[in-house]
Amino acid sequence: MHGQLIDMVVADVRQLTPRIREYLLASADGSPLPRGAPGAHVELHTHSDHSGPIVRHYSLVGGLGLADDRADHYRIAVQREDRQRGSAHIHDTFAPGTRLKVSRPKNNFPLDLRDRRSLLIAGGIGITPIYAMLRSLARRGRPFELVYAGRMQAQLAYAAEAMELAGAAGRLHISGDPATEHLDLAALLAAQSDDTAVYVCGPLPMIEAVHGAARTLGWPDARVRSERFTAGPAPDDAPFAVELRRTGRTVEVGRDTSILDALTASGIDVLSDCRRGECGLCPLPVLEGGERISHRDSYLSDEERAGGDTLCICVSRVPGGTLVLDA
Ligand code: FES
Repeated sequence: MHGQLIDMVVADVRQLTPRIREYLLASADGSPLPRGAPGAHVELHTHSDHSGPIVRHYSLVGGLGLADDRADHYRIAVQREDRQRGSAHIHDTFAPGTRLKVSRPKNNFPLDLRDRRSLLIAGGIGITPIYAMLRSLARRGRPFELVYAGRMQAQLAYAAEAMELAGAAGRLHISGDPATEHLDLAALLAAQSDDTAVYVCGPLPMIEAVHGAARTLGWPDARVRSERFTAGPAPDDAPFAVELRRTGRTVEVGRDTSILDALTASGIDVLSDCRRGECGLCPLPVLEGGERISHRDSYLSDEERAGGDTLCICVSRVPGGTLVLDA
């Protein structure tokens, strides 16, 4: 995995909103890049003197083989989160010429072009994969509807471009604007035809509300596809070490990095899929330090968490010291 990282350089930076910047990333040697599909993301690997290695995941806005995409560039948008030191580091230090490493695109949120109709719902920075889907659907002339929600229009990245692309099929919901009607997700889903699939990306409450509305309507789970962003590190997260007892390796895990990303960056192959503590593919057995784990997954049972014998290495961590894994 580590060997598959691509050397890249920041080619351009564009301020989209007060807190969101777009970064145009070019392959360092000018060679064409592996293309992503709508919904895909890349892992961005960089380093901070303060926090150590940083790995962050960002949806591809460009680099999808669409009309205005360049074959040797990826386009991502990064929202500065005060609690997420990785995004602050990127905002503070990335400028044209900054070198970094980026993974090949991965896709846990694919757009299925066999859908007869698509309802795209974005909340805030959740627009990034949705905008890629919108560009793809609009280019293909496929039927869709776009709902883009946020607190203030000035905080919504790509709002003008998205509304122009969507035309009459797009609308903004600004919760801080009394002139905007309330976003009634249940009514929105109830108004859809039977052949409409829903794609939603945004904050967890929005995603849960869409899934809940779909369940109330008796929709099959597969009709709603979602992607949420992980909460990222907590303010008091600290670096720690992971010892892989059977492998005989010890790896440092920075305060802004998951165990999974630290192992991967060290060239150690481990299974993973969702990277959000949901799928259950990454848990590893714990030999020592299990009583100190901060479990942040939604996969393990309460009993498994209390036992401290296993943890999801994509999201869970310990508050310092060394965690010993049976791996
Ligand atoms: S990768 Fe899915 S739970 Fe960790």
